[in-house]
Amino acid sequence: MKAIYSISLLITIGFFSCCKPDCEDSTTDNEPTLFDLVIPSPLPTITIPSENPLTLEGVELGRMLFYETLLSGDETQSCSSCHVQSAGFTDTARFSTGIDGFQGNRNAMVVFNLAWSPTLFWDGRATSLEEQALDPIVNPIEMHENWEDAAEKLNAHSEYPNLFKKAFNIDVIDSSHVTKALAQFERTLISGNSKWDKFYRGESILTEQELRGWDLFNVDGPYVGADCFHCHTAPHFTDFTFHNNGLDSDVSMNDLGLYLVTQNEYDKAKFKTPTLRNIEVSGPYMHDGRFETLEEVIEHYNFGGHASSTVDPLMKNIGEGLLLSPTDKEALLAFLRTLTDEEFLTNPQFSNPFK
Ligand code: HEC
Ligand code: HEC
Repeated sequence: MKAIYSISLLITIGFFSCCKPDCEDSTTDNEPTLFDLVIPSPLPTITIPSENPLTLEGVELGRMLFYETLLSGDETQSCSSCHVQSAGFTDTARFSTGIDGFQGNRNAMVVFNLAWSPTLFWDGRATSLEEQALDPIVNPIEMHENWEDAAEKLNAHSEYPNLFKKAFNIDVIDSSHVTKALAQFERTLISGNSKWDKFYRGESILTEQELRGWDLFNVDGPYVGADCFHCHTAPHFTDFTFHNNGLDSDVSMNDLGLYLVTQNEYDKAKFKTPTLRNIEVSGPYMHDGRFETLEEVIEHYNFGGHASSTVDPLMKNIGEGLLLSPTDKEALLAFLRTLTDEEFLTNPQFSNPFK
């Protein structure tokens, strides 16, 4: 087992390109090697926090930790239990089940292109990936471990102390370096090679139907457009902010969303706009996973959404609906499917290193 993962570690380190000319020497000194993050156009450049630069050693360690079941209370669950690569790093359940069999009331979120995201979680309660990663490990409905025990298990492990030494030059593993490594790996999870990206770069063409869908996406309704672009803005297909997209008429009934963080009445039932990249594989949809299919999502917007005290002014067709024809709904769906990035969903650099 140990031998297997040492080999896969070597292989995967080989996948990453070095960005320092003295790359070969990096194993002999104590300095980790900077990781060369490749960002495909049209995604913009990223600012990596200076207190946690990306290194080959840190990213690979983060990848191992992402798949490491030792980090959960009963050693059965890892981040990847709920964040599965082939589903855009989310799961296919409406609510994920933690190690004690409990379920929350929120649908797991996709984990990619988060280096650009100023806030995390449906209600935005974390402001960095390092801060976010503290939560699932101790969360009683998720991995339900405590940080002392998690760190103890890693410190007693035959390989991790050495890997943390190489990545961070530390002798004792603690939560801050576990979360730094996880955040480094997550920052490399970049999806930017969908059919749409290739079309945008002039490398591929869209079918007439897909182009019609892309037009509808970018034009105000009713009859003529679907008006999605205001909130699901390209190239991220999210504006990284919070809206109430008209799911319910009573904003105090269920999950209060952003209000839980700001305590502002006007933030009730507002949620982080999810990216639409890889949307074809990341269902069920919405913060509570209420829609099983993209057809249902399109019906929601076509109906116009529910009026309420916090519904977004950009939900412009409440009461009236978008009035899309069946052909146009098909076209919108065809366009949404062009956002699937097979290369990302099957990229061996992001897969389970223990397999
Ligand atoms: C039991 C299932 C489960 C496990 C295990 C789990 N997550 Fe999550 N993850 C979720 C759910 C559910 C949400 C949304 C929670 C919310 O908004 O309150 C989420 C949200 C996130 C987000 C926010 C994404 C965004 O767009 O804002 C990140 C990042 C993330 N998880 C990473 C991780 C990491 C790293 C681990 C392991 C340390 C992990 N998750 C373990 C279920 C899980
Ligand atoms: C007013 C801003 C806004 C507009 C306009 C808008 N959306 Fe959304 N969209 C959101 C928000 C916010 C969510 C998450 C809502 C929630 O979970 O409570 C969402 C969720 C979704 C989801 C589910 C994503 C997931 O991962 O669960 C899909 C799919 C979607 N929107 C597609 C569209 C399409 C297609 C259009 C145009 C017809 C559109 N949206 C128009 C803000 C908007």
